[in-house]
Amino acid sequence: MTDIRELRKVVDRFRSQERKADAAVNLVPSENKLSPLAQLPLSTDYYNRYFFNDALDPGFWQFRGGQEVAEIETDLARGQLRELARAPHVNERPISGLSAMMMAMAGLGGEPGGTVVSIDAASGGHYATADLARRLGFASATVPVARGRVDEERLGQVLRERAPELVYLDLQNSRHELEVSRVADLIKTYSPRTLLHVDCSHTMGLILGSALGNPLDAGADTMGGSTHKSFPGPHKGVLFTRNPELHQRLKDAQFTMLSSHHFAETLALGLAAAEFRHFGQAYAEQVIGNARLFSKLLAADGFDVAADENGHATSTHQVWVKIGDAERTDRFSESLYDHGIRVNVQVDLPGLPGPVLRLGVNELTFIGGREAAVHALAEEFGNARAGVRRDGAGSRRVREQCGPPFYFADIS
Ligand SMILES: Cc1ncc(COP(=O)(O)O)c(C=O)c1O
Repeated sequence: MTDIRELRKVVDRFRSQERKADAAVNLVPSENKLSPLAQLPLSTDYYNRYFFNDALDPGFWQFRGGQEVAEIETDLARGQLRELARAPHVNERPISGLSAMMMAMAGLGGEPGGTVVSIDAASGGHYATADLARRLGFASATVPVARGRVDEERLGQVLRERAPELVYLDLQNSRHELEVSRVADLIKTYSPRTLLHVDCSHTMGLILGSALGNPLDAGADTMGGSTHKSFPGPHKGVLFTRNPELHQRLKDAQFTMLSSHHFAETLALGLAAAEFRHFGQAYAEQVIGNARLFSKLLAADGFDVAADENGHATSTHQVWVKIGDAERTDRFSESLYDHGIRVNVQVDLPGLPGPVLRLGVNELTFIGGREAAVHALAEEFGNARAGVRRDGAGSRRVREQCGPPFYFADIS
């Protein structure tokens, strides 16, 4: 049995790794950081509590632990998210992007046997979507995407031949903004009963910060996804719509697919959203500017940065860099890690077989990384490749170039 001394060692390990994490530069595009304000609820008693009475019905306090702060979810979180998405209906209950995906599909996919169309994973769609559709009893069809544009011929054919219940656009790996309005037009033309959902898990912060277009403005019926990738919030999910009937369908699905919605994280989401309204647009624009600058600097230094023929490398937070075979990529990743710089290796990015660094500058931007920090970061990549300045201080040099964070640093 593990005794208390062993557990103390575990605590010590946590503490020392926390110090390292605090000093690190994290470039994983699916991750971000919680601000001190948004982190507050996670160490409160609300972490232990259920909260079901989201209608604030005075006769329905079966679980009372969340009663005193209920409005932080029902008013603050919903209100702020509504404003950010410009959508009167929000469901803040999913616990992650995949949880939101399940609810959206179950709520909008219609009767078993109907067809759900998603993006071919080989062209950037999420790996789970098609299989999830089948597990929920739907038939699945996929359409490829290139440079953010859905293959219109293939989509037109699927719409005409199968009249799907739902087109679920789940672009995960993309350097391009997803073009939604053409998809909405095709649906209107060929299968007007089909619903359109955009899962913008990766680009949520860029959309809510208005640096990328809002899918609801482009004709999507619903949208949603994770709140912890380009959006600097807790590990949660969210669903938005402007249509009350669809909101109810999502709510009905949520009711039977989720019981604990992680109350403390939901409060954190409310605070993160309230803070984001102060700086969201500046942050989102800076993320894209930083990603472009980083691509440019790396390419100028001879790195193999994924780009279109016209040199355009990215319009999102993602930057893709090919280092070489698996061994070289792994060595490079480890060398950066030894310097406190954490990168993400993927092996299935569209059009790039083999291991590739899928980098995101969202978290670096959130903590205050602007042009100077991006220059320092590109320099550290060069150092790692050349094997020079191997003093373990790479992340410190980058962080020294950071300015004030976007979040409220002083919450005392
Ligand atoms: C489009 C899309 N949907 C769902 C998910 C899963 O999100 P989570 O990891 O929050 O469950 C992702 C993750 O990358 C995604 O890109």
